[in-house]
Amino acid sequence: MAKSKSIYICSACGARYPRWQGICSECGEAASISEVIESSAPSAGSKAAARALSGFAGATENTVYDLSGVDLTSKQRVSTGYSEFDRVLGGGIVAGSVVLIGGNPGAGKSTLLLQTVGKLCQSHKVLYVTGEESLQQVAIRANRLKINSNGIKIAAQTSIDQICQMAGELKPEVLIVDSIQVMHVDGIESAPGSVSQVREGAAALTQFAKKSNIAVFMIGHVTKDGTLAGPKILEHCVDCSVILEAGTDMRYRTLRCQKNRFGAVNEIGVFAMTDGGLVEVKNPSAIFLNRQEQVAPGSLAMVTWEGTRPLLVELQSLVDSSIFNNPRRLSLGTDQNRLSMILSVLHRHAGFALADQDVFVNIVGGLKIEDTSADVPLVLALISSFKNKPIDKGTIAFGEIGLTGEIRPVAYGQERISEAVKQGFVKIIVPYDNAPRKKENGVQVITVRRVSDLFNLI
Ligand code: TYD
Ligand code: MG
Repeated sequence: MAKSKSIYICSACGARYPRWQGICSECGEAASISEVIESSAPSAGSKAAARALSGFAGATENTVYDLSGVDLTSKQRVSTGYSEFDRVLGGGIVAGSVVLIGGNPGAGKSTLLLQTVGKLCQSHKVLYVTGEESLQQVAIRANRLKINSNGIKIAAQTSIDQICQMAGELKPEVLIVDSIQVMHVDGIESAPGSVSQVREGAAALTQFAKKSNIAVFMIGHVTKDGTLAGPKILEHCVDCSVILEAGTDMRYRTLRCQKNRFGAVNEIGVFAMTDGGLVEVKNPSAIFLNRQEQVAPGSLAMVTWEGTRPLLVELQSLVDSSIFNNPRRLSLGTDQNRLSMILSVLHRHAGFALADQDVFVNIVGGLKIEDTSADVPLVLALISSFKNKPIDKGTIAFGEIGLTGEIRPVAYGQERISEAVKQGFVKIIVPYDNAPRKKENGVQVITVRRVSDLFNLI
């Protein structure tokens, strides 16, 4: 007989404990740990997948193969019909892969996948399973979005067993599950959305995808602090984890890859949300720029690099005398620790002390920037705000700052400069080692070597 034991799992990060405790030592979440009974018998989820797989003649687990002899023909990529989506997936959908699409409620996950299905169904067999909306609701939306619904197979179902069963019979190339949090696996007691349900459900779908060679898209909701609801474990088992984020003005949606077994991460795709659904923004380099006639102190455009292309965004900062003993340092869209580091570098290597000032930094448009090339524009914006002097119109900057106060070159310097010139910038501040080889007419390129050089520019 199968043994069962009780274990305590954190619903926020998936950490496991032998005993209950009030606060998770892994992620610090309070009251997130609950008891789960685990059985050593094959899990209910894997049984569900195994039953549905009986119709597939896949590889058996007990055979050893030559890696060079493995058949590659079936791993060709299928285009989603949206080049921005393909770019994030690393070039299209890989057969048998599992993709997790995460995002806040209302980000547009269902819309994106429904539109994708509309494109895919013209040449591929697709099954869309909705657990959150009724068939009519999806049909109404498809109608409103003018999606050609001929050939789209749809089911309203929340049982993973039934979904695997249906997909096993229909044998589609792509299966969409909206969303994993409302699905349940038969034989597991806890409520849908709980850690064990989500984990078993995702595991069953993954197993099903690998054996049947059907690509599976799972929608997952994100909690208020931006982590995938409940299970960090979800991210471990999928091949590709993509987050759909809405900017602050809700006009643009960015699709960002966090993990990809078949391509590069940090690639972003940009869509605009219109009354006719999501529309691709094929050349997004300048959509996050604020083109005001009047330039305000503390604001500056910068060129960052996202995945394989440049992106021009506006950075704003506010330096204001603090009324607190501990002045506030807040950064939205950039790394908070990096801000602290740069403030120390400024103090130590340029004698610029902001110890009695509150410092706020914001990336316009709700974008998140991880590129270190934001350091130089950040410092310029801080100086500009502190001195209350605007930076000349048409100025843009990029460059990384090191701990010894040196300004370091960044990758793709030439491409960044070209993009800035294309967007009409006339004064470009770059690290010395990124100086362009040939001059552009009417464009002034200023090279800088040390943080102290930046003070002469404003
Ligand atoms: P939805 O795909 O339902 O979000 P999710 O599945 O991620 O929860 O998208 C709903 C949001 O998109 C909602 O805020 C309204 C907006 N929207 C439009 O602006 N235009 C449209 O054509 C559609 C379908 C949705
Ligand atoms: Mg939805």
